[in-house]
Amino acid sequence: SKLEMFVDELLDMPKIQGFEVVHGVPRPRSLNIGMYSILWKFHKDLPPTPVFAYGASRSTATVPGPTIEALRGVDTYVTWLNYLPPKHILPWDPTIPTAVPSDRKGIPTVVHLHGGINEPQSDGHSDSWYTAGFRRTGPTWTNKAYHYHNQQHPGTLWYHDHAMGLTRVNLLAGLVGAYVIRQPEIESPLELPSGDGFDRVLVVFDRSFRVDGSLYMSSTGNNPSIHPQWQPEYFGDAIIVNGKAWPYMKVGRRKYRFRIINASNARFFQLLFTNGLNFTIVSSDSAYLRRSVEAREVLLAPSEIVDLVVDFSRSKTETAVLENKACYPFPSGDPVNEANGRVMKFIVEESPEGSSSDASKVPKRLIGYPRARLSDASQTRYIAMFEYTSPDDEPTHLYLNGLPYSAPATETPRAGATELWYVINLTEDNHPLHIHLGLFVVLDQTEIEDLEKFKDCMTELQDAVRCRLSRHAGGARRVPVRAHERGWKNVYKMMPGHVTRVLVSFSYIDSNSSYPFDPTSEPGYVYHCHILDHEDNNMMRPLKLIK
Ligand code: C2O
Ligand code: CU
Repeated sequence: SKLEMFVDELLDMPKIQGFEVVHGVPRPRSLNIGMYSILWKFHKDLPPTPVFAYGASRSTATVPGPTIEALRGVDTYVTWLNYLPPKHILPWDPTIPTAVPSDRKGIPTVVHLHGGINEPQSDGHSDSWYTAGFRRTGPTWTNKAYHYHNQQHPGTLWYHDHAMGLTRVNLLAGLVGAYVIRQPEIESPLELPSGDGFDRVLVVFDRSFRVDGSLYMSSTGNNPSIHPQWQPEYFGDAIIVNGKAWPYMKVGRRKYRFRIINASNARFFQLLFTNGLNFTIVSSDSAYLRRSVEAREVLLAPSEIVDLVVDFSRSKTETAVLENKACYPFPSGDPVNEANGRVMKFIVEESPEGSSSDASKVPKRLIGYPRARLSDASQTRYIAMFEYTSPDDEPTHLYLNGLPYSAPATETPRAGATELWYVINLTEDNHPLHIHLGLFVVLDQTEIEDLEKFKDCMTELQDAVRCRLSRHAGGARRVPVRAHERGWKNVYKMMPGHVTRVLVSFSYIDSNSSYPFDPTSEPGYVYHCHILDHEDNNMMRPLKLIK
């Protein structure tokens, strides 16, 4: 039984204000947000699906969760309360490094605000997990309330689970939501489409379902004698936007702003409109671009965010289907099919009388944050991505620099520093690299000439730091960074067989002030591949800042 497309209307997730206004003055606010086990309708013809969902209460919990609206410079405190049942709804695998409570009861969870610049104790470290009622806690757990400073540049962030070894199943179960930081003084003058209805968050992910409506995830690993359940990538056939499979949205002949978050485990999206409509991109991940960029297509890796404007007054047709053409795994897997090649449909309506005026603009000039300068880099690091396989060539695990997650931190930047990272992808897949706390600018991607030699060196030494790049790469073909991805990012696509150079900043990009917290405190941060199935199986490393 195939599900019909474009029959459910796009939802707007509930909004929660992350601040209070007292006598006209914004003040910090403390929120309680729960994680609940509920039933969710992904499609009108699909029975309700058991999911895990965030919400201010059980009855208002949604997949994705509520959108938190924060104000720059005003703190938001969130206590994320785990109300989940003793047992998971999805199969997990104890043979990868996994949070397991000592009484084996309860589902470990911990929330990370992706793109947030906050202290380690509020960053959702994988080992800071806890079960329902904080009955069992992970080795680095310290506090219930998380402090989000919101002192950073305005933009789109998202929150999601980050528990050790369970991130892929906790997100698949539904634990994701959007978080927007606004700064009206600098954003309003841009006159971008704004207000309810015209500035929308789209949280996109793929899922598969059984006929009874339950989420389907294979419970047998690709290499079951080593990992009974773990699989290198989860892919689903239905594309879900704001909790509905292939929804439709009615739009007027005017401009809309969409903040698109790829919340998939492993699926890349290469988005484009069937009727040739363009995108005007205004920010990439969580930071505005210096200048807006016109594009026909946009490629989004898991956890990447694109913030763009679509002008439906330019549409020559009455419907515009948003399609996806990224093969999976990316870039050399299966081509998309009819199901996962469609995302959603826009129905362009003639504006009802009197509502035709659209005063919004898409200025060429946006926000000019200081650029990263190579000469500021005080440290150079080499990070090699490598996939280990069993004799029958099935992946068993992935490592960064030949090291498991549990090995002591080797990346120890100074707070405030700028660093140059060479990320060397020796695998066949594209891996989206995400660095907590840091923001980076991608300098270039260069093909590795002698890949085989490089790999030999990797396996011998188990340590790419000693594989000097100058011997193996250099002078080879360079892949240009797309115009809309030359600004500040927190995730980027590491091309297979290439070295990607990124300049990472461990400070605010829009001010000279230092962090209002101690970034060197325990338990520190992490950096990892954002393909969740990789992250869970060792493609993550600790990141410890020093003074
Ligand atoms: Cu979006 Cu470490 O995560
Ligand atoms: Cu990966």
